[in-house]
Amino acid sequence: MSIENPIEEIKNRIDIVQVIGSYIEVKPAGRNFKARCPFHGEKTASFMISQDRQTWHCFGSCNEGGDVFSFLMKYENIEFYEALKILAEKAGVELKKLSPEDQKQFGILYDINDAAKEFYKKQLQKNPKVLEYIKSRGLTEETISDFELGFAPQEYEAITRELVNVGKFDIQDIERAGLNFRTERGTYTDRFRGRIMFPISNHTGKVIGFTGRILPEYDTGETGKYINSPETAIFNKSRVLYGFHKAKNHIREMKFALLVEGQMDLLMCVQDGLKNVVATSGTALTADHLKTLKKQTDNIMFSFDNDEAGQKAAERSIDLAKNLDFNVKILSVTDYKDPADAIKDKPGIMRVYAKEAKEAMEFYFARYLSHGESFKNNAPLFKKNLHIVLEKIKALPSAVEREHWIRQLAQLVNISEHILQEDMSKVEVVVPLEMRPKREEATLQEVEAEKMRIDLIAERVLRMAMIKESFMKGLEEYAKYLPARYRRIYDASVNKETVDDPKLMDDLHTFRMRAGTDVEDIDPDKVEKEFGELLRQLRTEALKEKQMVVMRAIRQAERQGDTEKALHYLKLFDEVSKLLQN
Ligand code: UTP
Ligand code: MN
Repeated sequence: MSIENPIEEIKNRIDIVQVIGSYIEVKPAGRNFKARCPFHGEKTASFMISQDRQTWHCFGSCNEGGDVFSFLMKYENIEFYEALKILAEKAGVELKKLSPEDQKQFGILYDINDAAKEFYKKQLQKNPKVLEYIKSRGLTEETISDFELGFAPQEYEAITRELVNVGKFDIQDIERAGLNFRTERGTYTDRFRGRIMFPISNHTGKVIGFTGRILPEYDTGETGKYINSPETAIFNKSRVLYGFHKAKNHIREMKFALLVEGQMDLLMCVQDGLKNVVATSGTALTADHLKTLKKQTDNIMFSFDNDEAGQKAAERSIDLAKNLDFNVKILSVTDYKDPADAIKDKPGIMRVYAKEAKEAMEFYFARYLSHGESFKNNAPLFKKNLHIVLEKIKALPSAVEREHWIRQLAQLVNISEHILQEDMSKVEVVVPLEMRPKREEATLQEVEAEKMRIDLIAERVLRMAMIKESFMKGLEEYAKYLPARYRRIYDASVNKETVDDPKLMDDLHTFRMRAGTDVEDIDPDKVEKEFGELLRQLRTEALKEKQMVVMRAIRQAERQGDTEKALHYLKLFDEVSKLLQN
């Protein structure tokens, strides 16, 4: 059977009320159904489901809605294609038969990542020295095989050759999956070389990307110690948590999630019996990460590196988690660099530390207010730090908690609760950047910032081109990345004929003038290199801007419940990402 419109077909075959009803309690209300909105905490039901139209809408503070696809994406915090797959299965339609085009677009990326994982695993078995190194870090064979660690050989085309020759995959698809990239000479180079490979799975257990740690003997210091797959249509670093698929049920069982910074920390924790652990993949913790965890538990324990960077990360993460109404605890690995180090030295120690974990506010009291006698005599610093702590207390969503911590604080600093309350009423609550409403506007600001940057680059590139003929030629291929205003100046200057737009001629003239004065400050030796670098940056910035615009379009389409449009933009996003990777 050939299906014209897969999305419509799925919608026809399943009932949104049943799907949503399998996640939350749904009650009939006249012709419609209602529920308590799962996306914002509420006591009265303002979440409506229309069976006739097969849509949902939250009339509460979310004020948004969509179809069954957008519900699942939001609820499970997954990408569109994953939702499509889950629903296709529910609808009883096999996805491969359902749409060869979608299979080509997304399904193939899963296949490639899976084949790569198998290849890397085999390579690890063939390289006993690498296996030795991993074991010397404290990992057992069991952990290595449970988490399917692998090794990317120190070669330029190992994975590329394997996937093309044995896997029969298209080189373009391999590139789209982020496993290799195209060099300037047009050849393909493996992204991961001489690295221990940690496959990253999505919530259903499918491999969607990798983190690779450089093997010390290949470490020249020129690349990152750890690198990740780039963003692809199926891999989004700010959404996925390393280890989540395996930890999910343990988190529910143990009624809390342990969050660590690194892959090694996570694996050592699991090995040490703490299986409810997840890690961010080389990125700061995001609200999306936390929303994923929130579906399993309200309790989170952070264990970050025992240095100032780790403490800063802890502070940021606490604020974010508190804002999402998590109960937060901080586990400090006193005397060690990080959890991995601690466990390697003293197996079992994490449980001891976990028992001693501090409440988030105790962590702040310790961080800001426990500096001994000399500190109490330093009035300005004491006042400043006290205010920071008051801000943190004020930001707590629960009044009971605020009251509790003011009482504790009063005892600690020996100031009356009354005075502290009064001071607290004066401080401003700092909402973490990620949590600020009107995301649309934040994104617009980002676009503006990007624009300014691209303008600066465009300006410089054009000026340089105007003083050197070969640069003007070099710019030809990149002119399409120039912002409109600069593009017109460029066109006018290469066409040479007079343009009857006086404003444009004026711009052009000003440019030429300024270009002349620039000559002195350009070092002739460096100028070629700088120009090449600027062209590359121009292209990157232009593509990044485009990516942001497309992402906004995707979000908008999702909000409107227009899944087909979302799919269309997703493909575009994918194409732009691919260009950016080159
Ligand atoms: P660390 O530098 O603390 O790494 O970074 P680590 O886990 O202690 O590494 P080992 O023990 O030397 O192997 C913490 C985490 O930050 C990410 C990685 O996920 C790492 O585990 N990171 C670190 C990167 O993404 N890139 C880097 O260059 C370094
Ligand atoms: Mn570390």
